[in-house]
Order: sequence, then structure tokens, then C-alpha cells
Amino acid sequence: MPLPAYDLTGRTALVTGAAGGHLPRPAGSGGGIGRATATLLAAAGATVHCADLDEQGAKATAAAISAAEGCAHAHRLDVTRRDQVAAVVAAARSATGRLDVMANIAGIMHSAPVLETEDADLDRVWNTNFKGVLYGCQEAARAMIATATRGSLVNMASGAIDAGAPGLLSYGAAKAAVVQLTKTLATEVGRHGIRVNAVAPGWIRTAMTDRHTAEAQQQAEGPMIRMSPLGRVGEPEDVAQTVLHLTSDASSFMTGQALRPNGGVAMPW
Ligand code: NAI
Repeated sequence: MPLPAYDLTGRTALVTGAAGGHLPRPAGSGGGIGRATATLLAAAGATVHCADLDEQGAKATAAAISAAEGCAHAHRLDVTRRDQVAAVVAAARSATGRLDVMANIAGIMHSAPVLETEDADLDRVWNTNFKGVLYGCQEAARAMIATATRGSLVNMASGAIDAGAPGLLSYGAAKAAVVQLTKTLATEVGRHGIRVNAVAPGWIRTAMTDRHTAEAQQQAEGPMIRMSPLGRVGEPEDVAQTVLHLTSDASSFMTGQALRPNGGVAMPW
């Protein structure tokens, strides 16, 4: 039985990017942050709607939750499409009559030096990592206001907001904008009892970081591990615990914040 403040029984949560990590992974690497979050929110008692561009992966996450006696549904969703975000929010809301939690976790990585950054890549990253979160916030907050639900929105930013890092212009700029969206929306919907917070993780072992070459991964992980007082990089569950905190009543007096599960180390550049 979860502690009452962390008990999400009777609440409905929508998690984007929930497929991450369903594919076979190199030994020692964790699943995705969205999948870990959906799994943890379901374990805390929520009915969880797992949404992702990768429909098979969303279904796999929902099936794993159901197999563990949680309650989950899967949706194919492209967060860059406002109509699709609206439809999935409506579907999640119609099943239980309410939407309590929106976790905007879907995101993509792109790395290119500023002088080589192309418009098409800039647009792709902006559309997914910023506009996708904006659409999620708008549609979910409207649903919460319409049903007088004192809900929680959690937006995935990144440690890239805290420092310049080579190659991370498009990614870091979109994530910084996510934090600005979080702070701004928090001031606008607080009167409805809706809280809006962001999470800015450090280096987390997922499919996203696995995509780096082994050499690049070692170059990036090495300084993180050396500089962390905890002496390690993060796992998806480290971030999921932070999201659970922000979605639960345990954080009922927190809004407009960016929490940093990063092992005590910001970007080391
Ligand atoms: P991941 O690649 O395992 O998961 C991302 C998920 O988003 C995938 O399942 C993918 O299919 C989905 N997705 C991508 N574009 C989509 C779209 N247009 N519509 C719907 N779904 C879409 O990566 P990871 O690491 O789990 O990333 C999750 C979030 O955490 C991302 O926003 C990422 O930027 C952020 N993050 C990750 C860090 C890390 O070190 N892994 C550090 C800081 C932030």
C-alpha cells in the first residue's frame, strides 16, 4: 500500500514517450524514461495511458503494466500533431471522466555544431521537444479546467538547460523553452489548482544515450561519473521517481519548478 501522499488510486495519467526502451538493449542499459514513468505511476495506482509514435512500444509498455496487475491503455501518438494530442487527451479523459496527470516525456536528440545546424533539424527538434510539450500542456490543462480537476502537468526538460554544450543548440534551446513554458503556464493555471513543473535530468542510460557511439558515450559518461558525488550516471527509474513526486500530493505546494535528478552534477562543459 503506497504512502497516502504518493497514492494515485482513482487518478488518470497520460504519459507520452511511453514506449522508450521496449526494444532489446545493450547489457547494463535501462529502459526509457517514459516507460519507467508509466510503470511507476501505474504501480502507485493510476490508470495510465501510454502514448508514443512507436505504437508497438506503447502497447508493450501497457501490456507489461497489465501483466503486473496495473491498469494501462496504449495509444499511437505523434506529439507534433495537435489534432492527435487532442484526440488522445479526449480518449484518456473519456475512459474515466477525468485527466489528473499529463507527463510530457516524448523527445528526440539532435546534435550538430551551431555553424552546421540546418533549418530542417532545428524545426524537427523544436516541433517535437517544444511544440509537442506545448500541445500536451494546452490540451491537458483545458481538460482539467473543464472537469474542475486539480491536476499536475510534468514536462521533460534536460540538464542541457544549465550550460552550453557542444552540439546541443537545437536540443538545449527547445528544452530551455520547455522550462519557460512550465513557469509561464504555472502562473496562469494555478488559480484552477493545476500545478505545472519540469524535470531536468542529467545523463540517463536509455535508448537515447545508447545511440551515441561507444566512444562518444564513454567521453560523455566519464566526466559525469567523475564529477558526481554519487559516482554514477542515472537510470530511467531515477527520473520516474521525480515525476511521481511531482504528480502526487507529496508535491502539492510545488509549481513552476524544474527539478534536477542529475546525481549532483550539471553538464560538465
Ligand atoms: P527514448 O528515446 O528512450 O524515449 C523517447 C520516446 O519518445 C521514444 O519512445 C520515442 O518513440 C518517443 N517519441 C519521439 N518522437 C515522438 C513523437 N513525435 N511523438 C510521440 N512520441 C515520440 O529516450 P529517453 O532518454 O527515455 O528520453 C525521454 C525524455 O527525456 C526526452 O524528452 C529526452 O529529451 C529527455 N531526457 C533524456 C535524458 C537522457 O540522458 N536519456 C537526459 C535529459 C532529458
